[in-house]
Amino acid sequence: MATTPEAVRPAGETDYMPLHGVDHVELWVGNAAQASYYFRHAFGFREMAFSGLETGLRDRTSRVLQQGDIRLVLTGTLHSGTDIARHHALHGDGVKVIALSVPDVDRAYHEATKRGAPGVSEPRTIEDDHGSVRLADVATYGETIHRFVDRSDYGDAFLPGFELIAVDSSSTDHVHDIDHIVGNVELGAMNHWVSYYENVFGMTEMIHFTDEAISTEYSALMSKVVTGGNGRVKFPINEPAEGKRKSQIDEYLEFYEGPGAQHIALTTHDIVRTVAELRQRGIRFLQTPESYYEEVPGRVGDISESLEDLQRLGILVDRDDEGYLLQIFTAPLGDRPTIFFELIERHGARGFGEGNFKALFEAIEREQAKRGNL
Ligand code: FE2
Repeated sequence: MATTPEAVRPAGETDYMPLHGVDHVELWVGNAAQASYYFRHAFGFREMAFSGLETGLRDRTSRVLQQGDIRLVLTGTLHSGTDIARHHALHGDGVKVIALSVPDVDRAYHEATKRGAPGVSEPRTIEDDHGSVRLADVATYGETIHRFVDRSDYGDAFLPGFELIAVDSSSTDHVHDIDHIVGNVELGAMNHWVSYYENVFGMTEMIHFTDEAISTEYSALMSKVVTGGNGRVKFPINEPAEGKRKSQIDEYLEFYEGPGAQHIALTTHDIVRTVAELRQRGIRFLQTPESYYEEVPGRVGDISESLEDLQRLGILVDRDDEGYLLQIFTAPLGDRPTIFFELIERHGARGFGEGNFKALFEAIEREQAKRGNL
């Protein structure tokens, strides 16, 4: 592992691609109504806006879910001949749009396409009685796109064309923010996409992991993390590395049928309580071997949480120079072994749990073996 301090911009140099953070993540799914039920009842999201037949759309329906500052959009199609139907037939449920909040959509689109990002949709304005939102789209890995969003002239909760739903805000939030979104790309493509984020979005590489650091006997991967927007946006990019058997990245690429978003990491302020609650609701998490916890005190030192709680719930813990972090990974969210969530609670640490990688990959491989894919 190698870490580099976040690049300090020289005085006078302007940031050509200021990013406020991730505005929302849109998943294209087979059944948005049922997916919404699952994300609400399993993970505690609340549905806050809707579009579909009732709002004048004929080909699709979208449900907007919110928890803390996290907005997920679930979109399903109403006809067989749409791009969503084709996308879903190929990839299954997955992330289509990683939307980035920017102060100036036209400038972001112009700078990105000038620097080599393929344009998907030129800047456009959508409006209703509550004001207007400016949007533009560029392509990234696989069929995933980045959508630039400027909602500063808009007074309603999501986007024009959506009908608001009265939200019951009495329940407590379990998760608050998107910490990072990981992309899986083909063997040999990681450096291309790292350069893409550096050149197009002005991001900097903050950490990289070699296959030696994060390999097991059977599978390996390489990972580099790019960050932008003063650390508000973090995109790790994984590629498979040669192992004795198929790596978890290869499995993802096979079943997603191409590169795509592997996991979305959500921050929690009380991972012990959150995981206990989510387990009660039937969420499945990756299993952590018992022996993992024997080494934790020596590897991690003092932490505020009880090791007993962590072990009972399968929560992983890691430490770097700046503090420690707690994390856990769900099983895949859908039928295909592709997208999943990570829950993460940071206590100063800025890493991604690299000390956990080996224990974690052994856990992942046990699941993979059960599916006959190792
Ligand atoms: Fe992660």
